[in-house]
Order: sequence, then structure tokens, then C-alpha cells
Amino acid sequence: MFIKTVRGWEIPERDATPESLMLGRRSLLAGAAGAALLATPFAARAQGAPRNPKYDAGRELTPERDVTTYNNYYEFGTDKSISRAAQKLPVSPWSIKFEGMVGTPRTVDLDDILKKVQLEERVYRHRCVEGWAMTVPWTGFPMRDLVSLAGPTSGARYVVMVTLADPKTMPGLRSPTFEWPYVEAVTMAEANNDLAFIATGLYGKTLPKQNGAPIRLVLPWKYGFKSVKSIVKVTFTDKRPTTFWQGIQPQEYGFWANVNPEVPHPRWSQATERLLGAEQRVPTRIYNGYGDYVAGLYAGMTNEKLFV
Ligand code: MTE
Repeated sequence: MFIKTVRGWEIPERDATPESLMLGRRSLLAGAAGAALLATPFAARAQGAPRNPKYDAGRELTPERDVTTYNNYYEFGTDKSISRAAQKLPVSPWSIKFEGMVGTPRTVDLDDILKKVQLEERVYRHRCVEGWAMTVPWTGFPMRDLVSLAGPTSGARYVVMVTLADPKTMPGLRSPTFEWPYVEAVTMAEANNDLAFIATGLYGKTLPKQNGAPIRLVLPWKYGFKSVKSIVKVTFTDKRPTTFWQGIQPQEYGFWANVNPEVPHPRWSQATERLLGAEQRVPTRIYNGYGDYVAGLYAGMTNEKLFV
């Protein structure tokens, strides 16, 4: 039977690994072995993409080392130090299945998708539900371009995205606490919003495996757990699906998961956030400061738990 236990990133920051230990691990990673694992052996999917000046994060970039060594990727383990383990992720060849309410269900090679889109760089703020935040230059393309390539039919209301679940390389899949694969979903309107972004790179380099190579979602106005990594399947449906964390802890994690400092997590406040690499705590903003882009998506939805 499936046992619902509180695990990993659900631990409030104060109970998580002390920063000194984290820094110890980081300096280990910064050594020769670390340098090797952060190198990307496969074809670049980010170089030379122009930065889109429209998306100014208004914050210093988080140091690349913090972004690439402090990760949540439960398929590889429940702590933040999964960057080494994640190097086993098989990323080439990579294809994505388009399924459900689409004109032609099919499997498309990632390289073929990338030939049809225009890569750009966007600097976005990222807010994890645990209370830490980072500012990252992602390379990628608008999610609406992926939707249009998939060709949903007019009745489609939700876009469901699924991560690879490979028991050979992902030790986390042995944990009975979770129902794999990792699945997330957004409405069609959210997927077509200007901000919704599909990333294939960061810091002008091919996306590191620990950050969700070779292709992941980035939704900067929602808590980070909505931004599914290493996408292998995109399904269109007219029924709202149960998502990964919602299935495990429905009283704590919902479908919408929009950032809001005034709605605390049942076990901790969401009023402030810790900036990775800066040892600084700053106030959290509603929709992570992106309300001008997205608040209209939720107008009149008074019966929905928009901020859980
Ligand atoms: N996607 C998968 N497949 N597995 C995960 O564990 N963690 C989520 C999200 N996407 C996660 C995932 C969470 S909680 C966060 S905050 C971000 O990835 C972290 O992304 P990062 O490691 O690139 O910072």
C-alpha cells in the first residue's frame, strides 16, 4: 500500500542541511571531480542565444555554482546534493511524446523540435516552496511554441508534462513514498502565457543534467515544483490531472501553486525567501513579482486554491 510520509524538500529550511555542511559539499564539488561533472559532453543547446531584455529580474544573478549544485531532483535523491548522481541521466538521444487530445499523437526527436524554434535567453526569478530563491539566465523558447508544435485539438484544457522515470539510473525511483513518474500540469491559458518557458540551457550553456537536461519547464510565477524537469511526454486533456506533490500531500500542495507571501504553507511561512549564494533574506512577492503578466489568468476564480 502507498504510505503518505513527509519527506525531503517538505522539511522547512530551518530543519534542512545546515549551510556550513552545504558549503562543505559545494567546495568538494568545486574540486577536480566537480569540474568534470559540471561539464556537458553533449551538443550545446544554448550558445549564442540573445538575451530578451523584456524580462529583467531586477536582482543579481545567483552564482552558477549554487544553481548547479543545490538542486531538487527527487528521482536522484531527496537532498540537495544530487548533482553527481544526476550525471547518469541518459540525455541523448532524447524524444518527446505528444499524446492525448492532439491532431496526430506522435514521438518527436528533440533535435527536430529545436530546429523549429528560436532560442532566446531570459533572466527569471525562481521561488521554491521551501523558501529559497534564485535568479537564473535560462536559454530556451516560449512554451506556446511547444504547444503549437504538438497541435492540440480545440477541446484540450490542460497540458500535462511527464519526467523520465528510468529505474536503471534514478535511485530515487526505489522509494515507495512517491508515485513515479513526476508529473505536472498547467491550463492551456497558462501554457500560452508569455512567461511560460521551456529551457534547454542556463548561463549560456547546455542545461546541466541536475537542472533537468535536456529540456524542462520554467514557470517563474509558480512555486518551483511546478517546473518539471527532463520532459519525455506532453499530454493534452480536458480533465484536470492530479499532479506529483498533490498526489502525495493534497492538503499541502495543490494544482495552482502560485507564489503568495500571504498564504503560508501549513508548516512554514511564505513571507520571505532566502537568496541562494547571497546569504540574504528578502520579502516574497505575490506571483513572485510577475502579477502584471499572470494575475489576469486567475480573475474571478474565487473557489480555487490558487496559492497552494
Ligand atoms: N522535476 C522533477 N522531475 N523532479 C523533481 O524533484 N523538483 C522541483 C522542480 N522540478 C523536481 C522537478 C522543485 S521542488 C524545484 S524547486 C525545481 O525543480 C528545482 O530546480 P533546480 O534544481 O534546477 O533548481
